[in-house]
Amino acid sequence: MRLRRGSGRLQMPVHNRWFIQVAIAPRPAYALRSPVVVTRPPNLRYQCTTAMDTVISQQSPDKIQVLLHRQYHTPDTLSPSTVSPSPLDQFRTWFTEAVQDGTVHEPEAMSLSTATPSGIPSARMVLFKQLDSRGFVFFTNYTSRKSQELLANPHAALVFYWREVHRSIRVLGTVEKINRHESEEYYKSRPVSSRLGAWASRQSTVVGEGEVHARLERLEERFGVHDGDQDNDIPVPDFWGGWRVVPRCVPFSISVYAKMD
Ligand SMILES: Cc1cc2nc3c(=O)[nH]c(=O)nc-3n(C[C@H](O)[C@H](O)[C@H](O)COP(=O)(O)O)c2cc1C
Repeated sequence: MRLRRGSGRLQMPVHNRWFIQVAIAPRPAYALRSPVVVTRPPNLRYQCTTAMDTVISQQSPDKIQVLLHRQYHTPDTLSPSTVSPSPLDQFRTWFTEAVQDGTVHEPEAMSLSTATPSGIPSARMVLFKQLDSRGFVFFTNYTSRKSQELLANPHAALVFYWREVHRSIRVLGTVEKINRHESEEYYKSRPVSSRLGAWASRQSTVVGEGEVHARLERLEERFGVHDGDQDNDIPVPDFWGGWRVVPRCVPFSISVYAKMD
């Protein structure tokens, strides 16, 4: 796809009816290259604004269009010479920096994409819990939709987005279940409420009003859990455990202003 320079903006013809607008940048300023692409029909005029916050058009009450997004940049540089040859080492560096930065909210939150064998995708947030030379581990219910899809089609993708430090990381790979012992070890490190939660949550199913609460009460009785318990020998549910995403490719990105001329 070739970029064409329009009057104060760049346009990429995508197909007959739609454009993707990359950015507007009166020369010789800078245009935001990577994080913002706005799709809109070509018959609407792009409003030039200097506002720094997200701009939503008010053209009709039933439609949201994000016209401009808060622009930001980072003094970071990213090039083959500044990254580690090992993606796992590079991830360790960035993840440690994100945690230590203190401004990144839930650096361990990542989106997980899965797909059915016929390629119908779905995505949701999960929490990154472990990394070693084998890959990235998260924990979940093995009967959930994500697990069913991973059992039928082992391809998966993760995305971390750390807006506060303008960094994102994708992990593309295949999955394997971690062994029972590893799941048990992690499960024991969880607070009692989370251990009960793993039993109570029937993921990917519709729950009735008060159902989870009632289930939790029954589980507390079953496992002899009392208010304020810090420890309890609740066993690991056999329908719960970890998945490891074994990376095939790990792209790292930063958000920068790209000088357009
Ligand atoms: C920030 C965040 C973190 C989450 N972490 C997990 C997780 O680690 N494991 C999990 O099973 N679900 C987690 N969830 C819930 C999932 O996003 C999802 O709703 C649930 O797992 C059911 O997904 P599925 O029906 O696609 O299997 C998290 C949700 C949020 C918003």
